[in-house]
Amino acid sequence: MNNNTQEYLCGFRNHHATEALPGALPEGQNSPQRCPYGLYAEQVTGSAFTAPRSHNLRSWLYRIRPSVAQSAYRPLPAGLLATAPPREPAADPNQMRWDPRPLPEAPTDFIDGLLTIAVNGDAAAQTGCGVHIYAFNRDMHERFFYDADGELLIVPQQGAITLRTELGTLKVVSGEISVIPRGIKFQVHLGENTDAARGYVCENYGSPFELPGLGPIGANGLANPRDFLTPVADYEDLTGEFELIAKFSGRLWTTRLDHSPLDVVAWHGNYAPYKYDLARFNTINTVSFDHPDPSIFTVLTSASDTPGMANIDFVIFPPRWMVAEETFRPPYFHRNLMSEFMGLIHGEYDAKAEGFLPGGASLHNSMSPHGPDAETFEKATAAELAPQRLADTLAFMFESRYVYQPTPAALEADFRQYDYVDVWAGLRSHFTPDQR
Ligand SMILES: [Fe+2]
Repeated sequence: MNNNTQEYLCGFRNHHATEALPGALPEGQNSPQRCPYGLYAEQVTGSAFTAPRSHNLRSWLYRIRPSVAQSAYRPLPAGLLATAPPREPAADPNQMRWDPRPLPEAPTDFIDGLLTIAVNGDAAAQTGCGVHIYAFNRDMHERFFYDADGELLIVPQQGAITLRTELGTLKVVSGEISVIPRGIKFQVHLGENTDAARGYVCENYGSPFELPGLGPIGANGLANPRDFLTPVADYEDLTGEFELIAKFSGRLWTTRLDHSPLDVVAWHGNYAPYKYDLARFNTINTVSFDHPDPSIFTVLTSASDTPGMANIDFVIFPPRWMVAEETFRPPYFHRNLMSEFMGLIHGEYDAKAEGFLPGGASLHNSMSPHGPDAETFEKATAAELAPQRLADTLAFMFESRYVYQPTPAALEADFRQYDYVDVWAGLRSHFTPDQR
């Protein structure tokens, strides 16, 4: 397997065909009596077989051994990884914020370095998500992972990571995101010039992320399909002692393999990992006054069964020009039906003067009020409204129709800011009934 590959296939969930050996893909059919090179054919399907064609997800893998060549699954302790619904629901209307989760000092890989901040919905019912923060400082070696409970939207914040998947390798740096579909096997290594890595994960239990409809925006804008990159086929033919960890029904399970599961020599289909550089996001915003709602910054959306009400929206607040006239420019004060988990990848977020740090997080659950802090309000109401570029900023939100249940680990974390609500304490009355 060539870890230095930089080759990618372009397009959002296109039907790709890729082979690491010439002629490894069967011609004209999926499962011939004998596959080229003595490979096994195996289909992996990420939708119901009968899903409409526009939402049907499947790939055919041509591999050295089929996935069934593994031992029985045995349960493993799940550590700080939690799944919805929690055994003891802990939904809380208090606004919450956390400092960056400290990086580990002891050797810790991606799996051991996952900590769940909050969950919502119900994994078994395919609704909601788990929100995790990863922090790790060593590669997964003879260890691989797949998640049967959801697809994984990975948002690196610090450091580069290399995702070695069954379908090929993705190198992902801070400022990019990646999605590993449900069930796809992979391992995570530290990327170039990275001793320790930290980032956020949205484990989407619901329908797979897709691009939002553009409505009156037209055919172009926001995240454009051609900027999504999928790895080319790449394999390793290794025998030895390997472990495959599965997350299934809220628990971790382990199974033994006598070979590396990254043995897919060729594949074709539209069910595959992908990555996207958030700098490619075509940001659309007001050029007159006021704000569009933050849905204008939606990168990916996971639909629920109610039209227009997302299971999860992945929304970013990217670098952009602020030109609105006669307008309070920071995000407005608001209360929403939807629940909002936010993270900061780098720079500063324009609603908060301080305290919301890169690698940190905030949670504003359904109808809990939030908005700019007192200092930001004072500044923004006095500011001269020249065009202004917010250059050093990249925040994001996992917004969901389902209330987030913070985990005990998050509620009791040393890095939680227990006094967060005080950021609004200085918002005094400016009311002058005798003067408009
Ligand atoms: Fe909000």
